[in-house]
Amino acid sequence: MDVFVIEGGRRLSGSIRIHGSKNAALPLMAACLLTDEPMILSDVPNLSDIRNMTRLLGELGVHSGIEDTDHGQTITHRVTDATQSHARYEIVRTMRASISTLGPLLAKRGSARVSLPGGCAIGQRPVDLHLRGLEALGAKITLEGGDIEATAPNGRLIGAPVFLGGPFGSTVLGTANILSAATLARGTTIIESAACEPEIVDLANMLNAMGAKIRGAGSPRITIEGVDELGGTSHRVMPDRIEAGTYMCAAAITGSDLTLENCPLDAMMSATDTLGHMGIDVEVNDRNGDPMRSSCTISRSGEIKPVQITTQPHPGFPTDLQAQFMALLCLSNGNSVITEKIFPERFLHVAELSRMGAQIHRQGATAVVTGVKELTGAPVMASDLRASAGLVIAALAARGTTIINRVYHIDRGYEQLEEKLSGVGASIRRADAEEFADSAMSI
Ligand code: EPZ
Repeated sequence: MDVFVIEGGRRLSGSIRIHGSKNAALPLMAACLLTDEPMILSDVPNLSDIRNMTRLLGELGVHSGIEDTDHGQTITHRVTDATQSHARYEIVRTMRASISTLGPLLAKRGSARVSLPGGCAIGQRPVDLHLRGLEALGAKITLEGGDIEATAPNGRLIGAPVFLGGPFGSTVLGTANILSAATLARGTTIIESAACEPEIVDLANMLNAMGAKIRGAGSPRITIEGVDELGGTSHRVMPDRIEAGTYMCAAAITGSDLTLENCPLDAMMSATDTLGHMGIDVEVNDRNGDPMRSSCTISRSGEIKPVQITTQPHPGFPTDLQAQFMALLCLSNGNSVITEKIFPERFLHVAELSRMGAQIHRQGATAVVTGVKELTGAPVMASDLRASAGLVIAALAARGTTIINRVYHIDRGYEQLEEKLSGVGASIRRADAEEFADSAMSI
């Protein structure tokens, strides 16, 4: 198993290009099940979750031709065998986003069997809203041996009003599932309380290019007029707003000037606004005719100011940046309050940051972060993707050496993280855990 070895205290300078978004790419890839024609996706990040989705699609009869380019991968998907509609537990348990195949399979093939994803490190993650939404479109759903078995009576779903509001707001992948499924339903579907995340807009744009009739994506009400069939298309995946936010935190905590290229600033206003309140400047260099692919420079001259953050569905502050901002606030000059309203248990990084000298008091879904003068390097454990990114941010500013164990979590969502950071001056390297067996054991 690999670890990251990070020597803190280096200033960063230069420029980082943001990769295509993992969370946009996964449902886009699943949507290839909706057409018999080739679907070409470019700017797809080369990550383990993407490889798992490619493997799953392979089992579902999709041939994927992968070409490496300067900007991620271009993947051409084509369905060659539509007889196999079982997403098995062996793959689903490695990646919850496998649930995104449920809607497309059901809509196109009339039936689907998708293993029910279990819990995960960031808390309970039910899929009841996905299932209720598909039932509203006429699907018959049962649970067999841990699998969701869904069938569309007479082979086709029927458009209907669907309400996707849950106890924590809407659901992103649930919206992607219902949206994709409704494109081939008979009649009109209205999704009320739809997720407004930019990844949903990216999906709707691609589906429309395939011949779907979707209006209102990006708002809480999406209207879909079902069509009889969808064609192929070429689509460039939107840049990753969470990767961009993570590098903004890296620049801010090290007091560096760092430029980000291909940055989806238009989808990041809550994060950049929060940085502004913390005394960190995000200057736009060039919008390149597309504010979703801007160039900007992050800089900080004074101390980091404390703030209050509450995670919320888009356009509120994203839960996927909570751990990284918490790491940054560990070095602020006061008390900050962070409340997690999407995944109330998503605080596994608190104990690890505390090992580095952070002062964080957690009570339920709220954490109070009292800024300290410095963090110190320590052996720590990556627990989930974004918690691990938070540890990297803290380590970049800490005095001494931090060894982050289990970096396979980071590899799920950050392409070439160590190359990108060392390219702008950070001291970070990947090593075999064996080399640090003693530190790993002391955890
Ligand atoms: C997506 O997960 C992202 N994953 C997550 O990113 C992200 O944290 C999350 O949205 C919230 O923004 C992908 O896009 C692949 P939800 P998703 O359904 O869609 C509850 C990362 O680090 N809920 O919007 O699965 C749920 O428990 C990952 O990249 C129900 O109650 O999240 C949560 O409290 C982690 N019933 C809230 O809704 C349901 O049927 C939002 O979850 C579905 C969800």
